[in-house]
Amino acid sequence: MASTGRLDGKVALVTGAAAGLGRAAAIRMAEQGARVVVTDILDEAGDDVASEIGASGRFERLDVTRPEDWSRAMEATLEAFGRLDVLVNNAGVVVLGDVESLSLAAWRHVHAVNLDGVFLGCRYGVEVMKRGGGSIINLSSVSGLVGGHNLAAYNSSKGGVRLLTKSVALHCARAGYGIRCNSVHPTFIETAMVRSMIDASDDPERTRQKLARQIPLGEIGEPDDVAHMIVYLASDESKFVTGAEFVVDGGVTAQ
Ligand SMILES: NC(=O)c1ccc[n+]([C@@H]2O[C@H](COP(=O)([O-])OP(=O)(O)OC[C@H]3O[C@@H](n4cnc5c(N)ncnc54)[C@H](O)[C@@H]3O)[C@@H](O)[C@H]2O)c1
Repeated sequence: MASTGRLDGKVALVTGAAAGLGRAAAIRMAEQGARVVVTDILDEAGDDVASEIGASGRFERLDVTRPEDWSRAMEATLEAFGRLDVLVNNAGVVVLGDVESLSLAAWRHVHAVNLDGVFLGCRYGVEVMKRGGGSIINLSSVSGLVGGHNLAAYNSSKGGVRLLTKSVALHCARAGYGIRCNSVHPTFIETAMVRSMIDASDDPERTRQKLARQIPLGEIGEPDDVAHMIVYLASDESKFVTGAEFVVDGGVTAQ
């Protein structure tokens, strides 16, 4: 893939990169010169993304809830590319449900992936990156900033990611590691996650139009809208930015 250089020399690891926002972030970062470790629990789709990237991409299986997977993925990254500069904690799941209807099992699953997974990523990422500095980018959501009646677990997990990010940023700044940590907060973006929510409704076409109407800019976002923000946070252009939250939401939370 031709390099235009904003991330030349950097090595990035992206979780949940077989599809959606993670895939877009991996591809856009590779276009800017990064070598990218694509990770996911979907082997075939993850391999396809790594192949699309070419020689500067490789796939590693990584279930973000498993410390042993993190350990192995970090070793594989250092073995393949010798360093890690950028970690995108992107893997996430949504289960709809309000506080009365959501099962405890669903609550725990959402937190295991969305919050424990980001905690483990930060823990293992800091361990490797404190040798040379780096950038950690955590995918939260507008649902980490404002509530939804049927998003009890998702709201809680994404709100947790928002403040965990600030804690990691301040710890790394205080320790002088040269590691920055920021959160990204998208609204509805056209990926499998949003499509499954739309398809589960009684009238998918009406639901899609309703979602788009809730967005001041009038449409559901594209994965690249978020990937471009991730490229900025991965690059040295954001060297003075840490502990901050970046909303990519077509104006939703401006209201
Ligand atoms: N799409 C949106 O509208 C939207 C909005 C706000 C925030 N987000 C957040 O952005 C991130 C990416 O969302 P998306 O829309 O691309 O989702 P997606 O469902 O399209 O893709 C998520 C990927 O994560 C992987 N994954 C799931 N569980 C995993 C695990 N335990 N370990 C490793 N990988 C796992 C899946 O296999 C999949 O490839 C998520 O954290 C999501 O909460 C998405």
